[in-house]
Amino acid sequence: MIQHASLRPGLSLAGSWRVVVDPYEAGRLSPWGDAWPLGWFKELPMRPGLAEVDFDRADQLLVPGDWNSQDPRLFFYEGAVWYRRRFRAPAHEGRRYLHFGAVNYRAYVYLNGELLGEHEGGFTPFAFEVTDALRGGDEDEVVHVVVDATRRVEAVPTTSTDWWNYGGITRDVRLVDVPETHICESFVYLDPDDTGRARGFVQLDGPRRGQQVVVSIPELDTECAAETDADGRVALDLPLPASLRRWCPDDPKRYEVVIACETDRLADEIGFRTIETRGSEILLNGEPIFLRGISIHEEAPTRPGRAFGEDDARTLLGWARDLGCNFVRLAHYPHDEPMTRVAEEMGLLVWSEVPVYWRIAWDREDTLECARSQLRDLIVRDRNRAAIALWSIANEAPATEPRLTFLANLAGMVRELDPTRLVTAALMAHMKPKEDGDPTTMVIDDPLGEHLDVMGCNEYLGWYYGAVSDVPDVQWETPYDKPLIMSELGAGALQGRHGSPDELFTEEHQAAVYAGQVAMLRRIPFLAGLSPWTLKDFRSPRRVLADVQDYYNRKGLVSERGVRKRAFGVLSDFYRELSGTEENPSDDD
Ligand code: GCU
Repeated sequence: MIQHASLRPGLSLAGSWRVVVDPYEAGRLSPWGDAWPLGWFKELPMRPGLAEVDFDRADQLLVPGDWNSQDPRLFFYEGAVWYRRRFRAPAHEGRRYLHFGAVNYRAYVYLNGELLGEHEGGFTPFAFEVTDALRGGDEDEVVHVVVDATRRVEAVPTTSTDWWNYGGITRDVRLVDVPETHICESFVYLDPDDTGRARGFVQLDGPRRGQQVVVSIPELDTECAAETDADGRVALDLPLPASLRRWCPDDPKRYEVVIACETDRLADEIGFRTIETRGSEILLNGEPIFLRGISIHEEAPTRPGRAFGEDDARTLLGWARDLGCNFVRLAHYPHDEPMTRVAEEMGLLVWSEVPVYWRIAWDREDTLECARSQLRDLIVRDRNRAAIALWSIANEAPATEPRLTFLANLAGMVRELDPTRLVTAALMAHMKPKEDGDPTTMVIDDPLGEHLDVMGCNEYLGWYYGAVSDVPDVQWETPYDKPLIMSELGAGALQGRHGSPDELFTEEHQAAVYAGQVAMLRRIPFLAGLSPWTLKDFRSPRRVLADVQDYYNRKGLVSERGVRKRAFGVLSDFYRELSGTEENPSDDD
């Protein structure tokens, strides 16, 4: 129940929840550290008259939302917080799930005093069936969620990142209603080897999973019907007319696809397109496309804290459109589902990634399983979104054997789950030894490149290394005949700080770095796109320079208050030129 939740009726539990900050996990663990059967989820006194917690008199926080930006006492807090919500469950014939869009980082979920289960991973959806656990009628239900944002070496991401570890129930929570036998998964895509048909599958869950399933596209007057197998699964083979409008940035056409069986019916808006590579080109619907992108962290456009929901998505992606983008890199973790749905509606191609970031515990089985489950849940949730072109399995992971084994495993899993998209990762280049006076040459020869369809590469020429004046002449080499997306480049600037182009953290310096980068990027023959770092200044515990950073990474083209910096214009001019239009940067090549 993590794929179609947003298409199902149900009860949102968004709003004000009671919360108790629990840094020692006293509510869940005994003083000796083992699970405590009479934890706070029972809301029982230790003995009559002796209670040391009372949720009815506790503080309150909004859900969805991180705690760091809602309570100044929790700005730096990374421990455990108890959330509690009372609600009434409307009557429903069929089955019900308690669905979470995401909780960062680990969640323990209790309903009416009983543990439903736990979940690890801060950015992917999860759900527990509660059909038989609800009291129903006119009795209150009570849900407790312990959210633990503690960073751990074995986690994904590990203890070190360059973004704020926002803790909390950061996305919507819903009681989702489905029929007893329902459609629990579906995948419908244009067959890359036979574009006259749509392929994929439908999976039913429930006692009557042996049924006929009909998939139709009314607008195209086409349908296919087939019986599910003993496991409730049916493969699709849906004829498509030559008149089909392929999804693309210029014409982000989606069709209503109806999946119906005797006991259930779902309708989703789906775009049909192909994405592949040919040598160092990326082909969309068989035609080369250059990806004019920008990287985006999941932070609200102008208020502090995590972004969520459709409004934030429209604002952030609207800024990307203003920049002249046809592509966005949703860094460094799965974003809320509306980001992908709105990108698809706007005609923005998407690089989507899991937080296998920098150096994680490559040699641990539990860490590999954690990365696999996050990647699987991301792909299952979003693989019907035509906008997604690339699944990224890592960011700047130092090249070692254990890391290569780990990431080859992830790449293999992506190809099993989704043969219709490209696999990538943000690699690091290295500078080739050179004689004085020779131009600098950057080389991308990471062995992980063998396992990728598209190479991503993060480089900071002109900021972390190299003189701005030398950047235009830098050469690039790779042994791979594959497309390159320059997945990060940029420089820091405090919005409103002005000075000479040589003065660090001025808008003029950031603009000069972008101008030098553009001059260099034009000359890279195997470059198929870029997603500079980054759209908006974002919170980071590593960026502490007083009066300049103040715990913000300042590489945004837009400030945390939504004010554009000069470099925004440098990049948008480049994108306008690339797209061959003067007046409207969003027309596509
Ligand atoms: C790295 C990393 C980013 C980070 C950026 C920076 O490339 O991928 O997450 O924010 O550099 O240094 O600003």
